[in-house]
Amino acid sequence: MRFTLDGIVVKCADAAETEAGYLGLGCAAAGNRAVGAGIDTMLELGPGGESLPPGKSVDRIVFGVDDVSAAFDRLVADGVESVSEPRDGSAVVLGPDDLRIEIREGDRPAALPVGPDDLRLHHVCFLTTDYEGAEEFFISNFEMRKVYDFSKAGTAGFMFLADGAWDAEGHGFLLEVIGGPQFMTEQQAWDAHGPHYDHVCFSMSNVAASYDRGCKGGLAPMAHPRHYPEYGLDIAWLYDRDGLHVELLEEMPLHELREAHSSGVVENHWVDDVISSLDVIPFVVPA
Ligand SMILES: [Fe+2]
Repeated sequence: MRFTLDGIVVKCADAAETEAGYLGLGCAAAGNRAVGAGIDTMLELGPGGESLPPGKSVDRIVFGVDDVSAAFDRLVADGVESVSEPRDGSAVVLGPDDLRIEIREGDRPAALPVGPDDLRLHHVCFLTTDYEGAEEFFISNFEMRKVYDFSKAGTAGFMFLADGAWDAEGHGFLLEVIGGPQFMTEQQAWDAHGPHYDHVCFSMSNVAASYDRGCKGGLAPMAHPRHYPEYGLDIAWLYDRDGLHVELLEEMPLHELREAHSSGVVENHWVDDVISSLDVIPFVVPA
């Protein structure tokens, strides 16, 4: 059975305004308020966010499947909790920490154009109370593979999981799992919200240029671009119109991800004491 990470459903106070912010960053529109960049995974912007606290607008992630009834039956038989049974090609189940996961059958979205400075949608993140349990959950139930591991046994960290169809070009989308509550930039989000889908991330060749474009295009500054030597990459942060964190990440070298996806062995290593170093906490732009 194949599960492909096809979408992120976002509940917005005003979906047209939220869409405008992502278009200002350089995303392309796929119609029906779906936006994205470079790959075939979409941010699906819709209504319903009026009463949500800032930063909690991601409602669920979406896995595409060939047969939603067969996928749903297997998940439930394996102990995954149902929220809504299959209807009109869609069902919703609960993941770790009761995070919502939709499974959906139908045509897969087509890849959107790559944006300016090689802008591509890169990952969605969730913060979990059960870091190792979340890894097991997605690998055993959704046939995902761990392709990047920046964690240390017994402490917090983060990992990237890829679905079985992942490829670096048209379907280069990842699920980031962060073990809370004590990890870097997400501390405030954790204190405010507990486990939740915390941010979406775009990769690009020039983080500073995308940061400027996003600020001019209607997103709000959160953390200026800076270089993170422990990753060897530039990173910056913005807020979208609903307060969702938007990470801007310099393109990662792909060979490690490709190797891990094909071999099942993750080669990258923890860099010791990174979490205890204040250097990793970005400068947050004052309100
Ligand atoms: Fe991230």
